[in-house]
Amino acid sequence: MIPETFIQELRFHIDIEQLVSSYVRLQRRGRVAVGLCPFHNEKTPSFTVYPESQSFYCFGCGAGGDAITFIRRAENLDYPEAVRFLADRAGLRVPDEGSDDAGARLRLRILECNRAAARFYYDTLVSPAGARGLHYLRERALSDATIRRFGLGYAPAEWNALTHHLHSLGFSEEEMLAARVAASSKKDGRAYDLFRDRVIFPIIDLRGGVIGFGGRILEGEGPKYLNSPDTPVFKKSRNLFALNRAKSSKQQGLLLAEGYMDVIALHQAGFDHAIATLGTSLTAEQTQLISRYAREVTIAYDSDGAGQKATRRALSLFQQTGVKVRVLKIEGAKDPDEYMKKFGPARFRLLLQNCANATEFEINRLRQAYDLETADGKVSFLGEFAALMASIRNPVERDVYIKKTAGELAVSPDAVLQMVASNLKRRRGGEEKKQQRDMHMYVGAGAHGALDPERERNLKYALAEERIIALLLQNPDYYEYIAERIGPEQFVTGKNREVFSRLCERLRAGQSVELFSLSGVLNDEEMSLVSGLLACSPTAHHSREEAEDCIRVLRGRENERSSNEVAAMDEEQLRDYFQKIASEKKQRL
Ligand code: CTP
Ligand code: MN
Repeated sequence: MIPETFIQELRFHIDIEQLVSSYVRLQRRGRVAVGLCPFHNEKTPSFTVYPESQSFYCFGCGAGGDAITFIRRAENLDYPEAVRFLADRAGLRVPDEGSDDAGARLRLRILECNRAAARFYYDTLVSPAGARGLHYLRERALSDATIRRFGLGYAPAEWNALTHHLHSLGFSEEEMLAARVAASSKKDGRAYDLFRDRVIFPIIDLRGGVIGFGGRILEGEGPKYLNSPDTPVFKKSRNLFALNRAKSSKQQGLLLAEGYMDVIALHQAGFDHAIATLGTSLTAEQTQLISRYAREVTIAYDSDGAGQKATRRALSLFQQTGVKVRVLKIEGAKDPDEYMKKFGPARFRLLLQNCANATEFEINRLRQAYDLETADGKVSFLGEFAALMASIRNPVERDVYIKKTAGELAVSPDAVLQMVASNLKRRRGGEEKKQQRDMHMYVGAGAHGALDPERERNLKYALAEERIIALLLQNPDYYEYIAERIGPEQFVTGKNREVFSRLCERLRAGQSVELFSLSGVLNDEEMSLVSGLLACSPTAHHSREEAEDCIRVLRGRENERSSNEVAAMDEEQLRDYFQKIASEKKQRL
C-alpha cells in the first residue's frame, strides 16, 4: 500500500504536459495542449492535456485521467508500478519499497552523505577554520540565528577536507561522487572536494532532506556561485530554495526572489515567505509546484534588465497556473537584499503592499516599448493595450485601466473603449465556439467512445449529475452544502452515482479529491468520466446557484416518480415518505 502522503508529494513533482510530451507530440493551444491520441488511431488530434487540472482527455475515444492513469495505459503497468515509474522519473523514493531496490538505496545514501556534508560545512564555519566565511556572512548582515536556521556553512580552501571527513564516516568515493559533493580528478581519478573556499547554502527539500548545495565565492577568481549538479535526489528544475520554510509562513502567498542571499535576508527581516530558483531560470514545473502552495505570488527579481526580462518570462509561465501574480518594482537598489540594507525592511513592506499586479506591469512594459510622443507610437501602443484589456474578465477592472490610460495619453476614453469592445467580441466568439465544440464532443462520445444507454435515456438527469460531480471536484469546499441537499441514492445513472458516492466518502473523511489522489480509488472508466467532466467544465467558476439548479433537477425527478409510486406504497413506506418530505420542507425554510 502506497501512503497517500507520498502520492500527494509525487503529484508536485510531475507535470503532465511534460510527461505526455515524452510520448505524444503536443501542441500548445492557449491553456491546453493537443496531440494525436496514443490510445486509439486517429489522424486529427483530439487528445487534450489540461495543465491546470493536470489531466488529459481524448475527445475521440473517451480515455482520460491523470498522470498515473496515463502511465498505466501508456506503459501497461498496474497502479503501484506506475507510481514507482513516476517516482523514479522525479527522483523520489517510494516509501516501504522492497529493500532490494538499488536505486532507492543509493538515493538514501546520497541524502545521508549530503546531510553529513552540510553538518561538516556548518561545523567548519563556526570553528576557527571558518573564520573567513563567518566574517563574510556577518559582513552581509546575517545574524547567528539566521546562519543556524539556514544551516549555512563554509567549505575550506582545501582539496580534500570534506572527502576525508566523509571517508572517516564510512562513505565511499562512489557515494560522494554520486552526491556530487566531490568530483573526480582527471589525472588520477581520485575524488576531491567540489566546493572550496566558499560559503555554503544547503538546499533542503519539502521532506527536510538535504538535496544539494549552492556555494558563493568570497573573493577572487571563478564563478560567483557554484551549484550542485542534478543528482538522483536533486532536480534543480523541480525544487525551490527555502520552500520548505516558506510553505508554513503566515505571510500571504509566496515571494519569489532571484538569489539565495535575497531569500535569506528577506527571511531574516520577517518575510519568511520568500523563495528562489536554484541558479537557473524559472521552469513550468516550479510554477506548478508554487501553485500547490500559494494562490498568489509576488515576483521580486532584480531591477536590472535581466531581472525584468526574467519577470516577463515568469509572468507568462504563471499565466498557465491560475496563480495570481504581482510584480515588485524595486527602485534605487539592485535587489531586495540591497534594498532592505539601504532603506530598511519597513520600507520594503510598503513596497510589497503597494506593488503592481501583473496587468500594471504589462501596461508599463508596453508604455516603455513605444514612443508615446509620436502619433504612430500611440496608435501601436493602443492596439496592444486594447488586446491586453480584452483579456481581463472583470469589467470594472477593465474600466479603471482604460480610463486611467486614456487620460494619461490624452485620447478619448470612448475611442479606446471601442477598440477594446471589438477585441472582446472577437475573443468571445472564439471561446464560445470552442466550448460548444467540446461540450458536443463529450456528450456525443461518452466514456470510451461508446454511447452509454443509461446516460442517453436519462440525459437530462445525467447532465445535472455530471455538473454536480464537476462542481465538487473543483470546489471541494461545497461538499457540505451539497451533501446536505442530495445523496447518491438520488442519482439516476449508476456510473455517476458510484463516482459521486466515492467522492462523498473521501470528502467526509477529509481526504483529497484531486485527480491525482483519485486514480488509486476510481477505475479506468470512472477516471475517464471525471477527466471528461473536467475537460468540459470551463473553469472553477461555479456558484452555489448552479449547484442548487442541478439539485433541483434531480429532485424534480423524485417528485415525478413519487406520484406513480406513492399509490403502491405500504403503510411503513408511506410514513417514511412523508417524513422525508417534511424534513425537506424544513430545510428549505
Ligand atoms: N547564480 C549562479 N551562478 C552565478 C551567478 C548567479 O548560479 N555565477 C544564481 C545564484 O542562484 C544566485 C542568483 O543566480 O543566487 C542571483 O545571482 P546574482 O544576482 O548575481 O547574485 P546575488 O543573489 O545578488 O548574490 P550576491 O548578493 O551574493 O552577490
Ligand atoms: Mn545580491
